[in-house]
Amino acid sequence: MLRHQDDAPAPAPEPLIELKGVDKTFGPVKALSGLSARVGRGEFVTVVGPSGCGKSTLFNIVAGLEEPDPGGALRFEGRSCHAADLLGRVSFMPQRDLLLPWRTVIDNAILALEIEGRPRKEARAEALRMLPEFGLAGFEAQYPHQLSGGMRQRVALMRTFLFERDLMLLDEPFGALDALTRTLMQRWLLDVWQRHRRTILFITHDVDEAIFLGDRVLVMTARPGAVKLEQRIDLPRPRRPDLVTAPEFIRLKRTLLEAIEEESLKSFQIAEEKIR
Ligand SMILES: Nc1ncnc2c1ncn2[C@@H]1O[C@H](COP(=O)(O)OP(=O)(O)O)[C@@H](O)[C@H]1O
Ligand SMILES: [Mg+2]
Repeated sequence: MLRHQDDAPAPAPEPLIELKGVDKTFGPVKALSGLSARVGRGEFVTVVGPSGCGKSTLFNIVAGLEEPDPGGALRFEGRSCHAADLLGRVSFMPQRDLLLPWRTVIDNAILALEIEGRPRKEARAEALRMLPEFGLAGFEAQYPHQLSGGMRQRVALMRTFLFERDLMLLDEPFGALDALTRTLMQRWLLDVWQRHRRTILFITHDVDEAIFLGDRVLVMTARPGAVKLEQRIDLPRPRRPDLVTAPEFIRLKRTLLEAIEEESLKSFQIAEEKIR
């Protein structure tokens, strides 16, 4: 067996999902062009990019909700597949939390299990056991309108966790939260992730969030979206809250911000040309 030297980088985990040269067109709009990315088993990969660059489109393809244009390649667990094959193999939380207002916390949490055909009683019992970990103990009978924004997001996250799949997709789950709640939720999510050891693809437009959470950050170009930069984040885990002021963090942030600003400027210029 080959031995790795102590100073050699850790071997990359086996890829769970891979996209190669993926395009996606919506009528006249080219949303993605030649996008290639890979998420290793057990990895936490974050994706940042200017708004409208195709982040949610990427997410929808990996969730199996949209088929990419012909020509690109999609592989799951090493096997070539269509996006539609991923439906049901991936658990996802869309950009809007989509809690059903007429269902209680517990019944919102078990929605995906119910759709899958699990008996309601059994699903409820499992969700009840999970409530404390999600900071929702005692709130099982409440309705979404009775909860704070952070709690509603935790219900939506719990629903995603309960639907146990190898890959979890989270599309800007903390985007609508205030800054303090947001950092608390990030720390909490890392805690839960380390206990449950899932593979996560996490979309955000917040660079600090992308660095704080990720093993790797993918920066997307302006539309049509592709991966502009792939940055390893070798910051130690567990990540402590004061990490965001550490020199290595700031250095990474500068690199990523530069890449994103260049792209945001491009999308801004494209928009301006259209107005003129
Ligand atoms: N279903 C769709 N039909 C038509 N256009 C779409 C659709 N989904 C996304 N788009 C367009 O594709 C581009 C990328 O959108 P999106 O992936 O939502 O970007 P992001 O999530 O990065 O803000 C946008 O111009 C958007 O209007
Ligand atoms: Mg989006």
